[in-house]
Amino acid sequence: MKNDRFPPDFLWGASSSAFQIEGGWDEDGKGKTVADYNSFKKSERQADSKIASDFYHHWKEDIALMKELGLTMYRFSIAWARIIPDGDGEVNEQGITFYSQIIDELLNNGIEPFVTLYHFDLPYALVERYNGWENRECVYAFERYARICFEAFGDRVKYWQVHNEQNLMIRVDERMNINEETLHRADKLRAQMDYHMCLAHAFAIRACHEIVTDGKIGPAISSTCTYPLTNKPEDVWAAKMNDWFKTEYCLEMHMTGEYPGYYMRYLKKRDIVPVMLEEDKEILKNAKMDYIAVNYYRTLCASYLKEEDTHPKGERAFRGNEVDFDQYGYFRDEKNENLAATEYGAQIDPMGLRIVLNEYYRKYRVPLIITENGLGAVDVLTNDGKIHDEYRIDYLRKHIEACALAVEDGVELMGYSPWSVMDLLSSHQGFKKRYGFIYVNREDHDLKDMRRIPKDSYYWYQNVIRTNGEEL
Ligand code: BG6
Repeated sequence: MKNDRFPPDFLWGASSSAFQIEGGWDEDGKGKTVADYNSFKKSERQADSKIASDFYHHWKEDIALMKELGLTMYRFSIAWARIIPDGDGEVNEQGITFYSQIIDELLNNGIEPFVTLYHFDLPYALVERYNGWENRECVYAFERYARICFEAFGDRVKYWQVHNEQNLMIRVDERMNINEETLHRADKLRAQMDYHMCLAHAFAIRACHEIVTDGKIGPAISSTCTYPLTNKPEDVWAAKMNDWFKTEYCLEMHMTGEYPGYYMRYLKKRDIVPVMLEEDKEILKNAKMDYIAVNYYRTLCASYLKEEDTHPKGERAFRGNEVDFDQYGYFRDEKNENLAATEYGAQIDPMGLRIVLNEYYRKYRVPLIITENGLGAVDVLTNDGKIHDEYRIDYLRKHIEACALAVEDGVELMGYSPWSVMDLLSSHQGFKKRYGFIYVNREDHDLKDMRRIPKDSYYWYQNVIRTNGEEL
């Protein structure tokens, strides 16, 4: 079938992460992770990571469904604590065997494995020993883990991602185990952890290039763009600040090896400059990214808030509506009246994706790939035994269309891998909020039969892949 909107070798994928899909949380030697720990805290209210989608026991059947869907790549993560249960001690051979089987099965079915090393699931033992990323030892532990993965799987896995959404993860206290009493202490700790993660990122890039022949590796960025609430210059500035402080400073460090000036100014002004060793500079500078992975769901909108209004006493004293990440001051999240939102409040904006792709590509000139994009909803299994998720089809169709336009704009886009391959544990709403192409027949507290049922969006995406994006 002729179609030149997407390159012939375009990767059509679907995504997941270990703690959200696998289950088998303590099987065959796996250690507990921060993601497990946090999910257990909420298990009275919703599903946790103990069983999740039970991919750990269903992987053959699940990969067969991926094959039937027509995927040419599958983006998933390795659980660090399955490979090294306590984070930096003994290697667990059963963990290596598990992922080796997955990788072989994917390749045997013509599906390219696209592997993330760390998706929110730091081994819990490292929190107990070092308070996680606060300590430089965690950086070395990560480098060792990355090297072990490259050695074990690098003969077959050519595409690697380091941390999933460092720029978002760092702001979620429970994912980082930040429990400080004052905002200043929390921000200081956060800045140190963030820097250590950047350093670990650079070590992993170097190791991949040393070990994996033809390996390609890069960051996975939680990506969005922020619109100003009005055309007042202050609101425009607020929108820029939102993007700079939520995304750009981190991407800039990955791509250039240095924090940008505005970020250093912020760190100094708040007296939270992390310890950065002289010897790190070279490692950070020399870490060359082969691509940038874009995780994109929605856009944001912001208005200006005077700095003194944000933290009058240096503490969390934000006024007005609820703000996700308020520690930087300067901006307040607003609703964009021009956009529809999902039932969970994410503002749907395909054009925003075109903007993001163009901006990243013009700035950094490396290929891009989308490793997350999707719509979370309460899907219903109807009496006909089907899931009619036309709202998801509509969302995905418009976003793929935006990708095609970005390609026409000249963006080098390697592939599109939406979230998620099948229903899995939402990072906020358990099993209620679903993103998958494949329905998993369970509820938060009722495992039912765990049957896999392709949704309408599965058959729709199958045709998209078959026609290389011609028929949307
Ligand atoms: C991304 C994460 O930010 O958002 C995924 O990488 C997550 O792990 C996804 O599941 C959707 O978020 P949520 O909270 O709706 O599951």
